[in-house]
Amino acid sequence: MKNRSKESRGTFLVIDDEPDILDAIGRLFKREYDVLTARSVDEAWALIEAYEVQVVMTDQRMPGMSGIDFLVELRETHPHIVRVLFTGYSNIADVIDAINEGHVYRYISKPWKPAELRLFVAQAFEHYRAKRERDQLLLQLQAANEQLEAQNALLSQANQELKMLDRVKSVFMEVVSHELNTPIAIVFGYTFLLRKEVGKELSSVATKALAGIDSSAIRLKNISNRIFQMLDEDGAGATLDLEWVELPKFVDSLRDQLDPFLEKRNQTLEVSIAPGLDQIVADEDKLNDLCLNLLMNAIKFSYDGQAITLDIALQEGDDMISITVQDTGVGIPDEEVSQIFDVFFSTFNSGHHSSGQFEFNKRGIGLGLAVAKRFAEMHGGYIRVDSTEGEGSRFTVCLPREPEQPEVSEVSALPAGRRPGHHAPH
Ligand SMILES: Nc1ncnc2c1ncn2[C@@H]1O[C@H](COP(=O)(O)OP(=O)(O)OP(=O)(O)O)[C@@H](O)[C@H]1O
Ligand SMILES: [Mg+2]
Repeated sequence: MKNRSKESRGTFLVIDDEPDILDAIGRLFKREYDVLTARSVDEAWALIEAYEVQVVMTDQRMPGMSGIDFLVELRETHPHIVRVLFTGYSNIADVIDAINEGHVYRYISKPWKPAELRLFVAQAFEHYRAKRERDQLLLQLQAANEQLEAQNALLSQANQELKMLDRVKSVFMEVVSHELNTPIAIVFGYTFLLRKEVGKELSSVATKALAGIDSSAIRLKNISNRIFQMLDEDGAGATLDLEWVELPKFVDSLRDQLDPFLEKRNQTLEVSIAPGLDQIVADEDKLNDLCLNLLMNAIKFSYDGQAITLDIALQEGDDMISITVQDTGVGIPDEEVSQIFDVFFSTFNSGHHSSGQFEFNKRGIGLGLAVAKRFAEMHGGYIRVDSTEGEGSRFTVCLPREPEQPEVSEVSALPAGRRPGHHAPH
């Protein structure tokens, strides 16, 4: 479609069967608009199809068809064009009806004063612009609405998926806490029974087999405990059982639990506790798991015969303590440091995974550090790591000496009796 107008000029179509009137109007508006003139309805249609007309002004009295009837049709085919009428009839009732029914925007009666007509046409163009702007805004609004609806749909889908995941999590916790732990307890029961029944008559093969069954069951139990500890965000796992922890006794117990592994790896554990730092307030079971996770990692990721250190010291200001586990083992590559506290982060390499818990460089399921971080944070503390690949790692846990109970958002749906008990590796 042609648009004769320069950018800001409107296109104005005037229809009248009297050439003098068309001429006069053409002259009156030629500076402001591109004026098209038609002497019949047929000519007018041809121009409307060919040009981008914005305002149409027609005489009411036309041969063959009235101006109003033409504008009624025009409204059907080109609703965006502003339709105005001029009439010399003294009976104006039809025109007013047409305006009231929305077929005609306005009318002007003949004869008009040029200034009056100018204003009238200017208002018609202004109406066109305002309508177009409004239509564009409406379109934008509609698009924004559609986008919003689409986002809403996505959100509600995500919500559904979350609910589903929550259900899966509950079922999974149920499985871990009961379905997995019950058979593990049964395995322990039978190995105990076998040892008791057969006693000293056990062959060396049978003794080895029983030890293997026991240690595998312990591993399974530890894995199930860790998974449970990570998933149980709202229940008993989220509360602290705070008590005074005697540090020398606590450290002795850690050493007892670790000795078998240290011995097998020919490693040593050097412990130091700051003078005067005899006790702190903590959840002893959680503190025990936290330290064991760090120390077991230190054992696994150190070479045979190396020393591991555990330092418990007072932080500046005396209201925080630090527990530092340091090794001179393989260290952690820079690109992995930011991920090692993530749940299930473990550098998956099938060569590194094994049934052992303490052998050199054996990765587990990647929950130990996530659990350690969670427990440190529950105490109002934090954990950080300094490590150099090939030189070793230092994990530091900072805890308040007297932590506060964290707030629990909800009580878990799982009955307390079904929670797995604390079980340390040994
Ligand atoms: N002391 C360390 N030296 C070197 N790398 C370490 C050390 N501690 C942790 N890592 C790295 O961080 C990863 C995550 O440790 P994390 O304790 O969470 O998992 P894991 O020991 O592999 O398995 P899990 O503890 O669940 O049995 C380890 O797989 C290892 O790559
Ligand atoms: Mg670990």
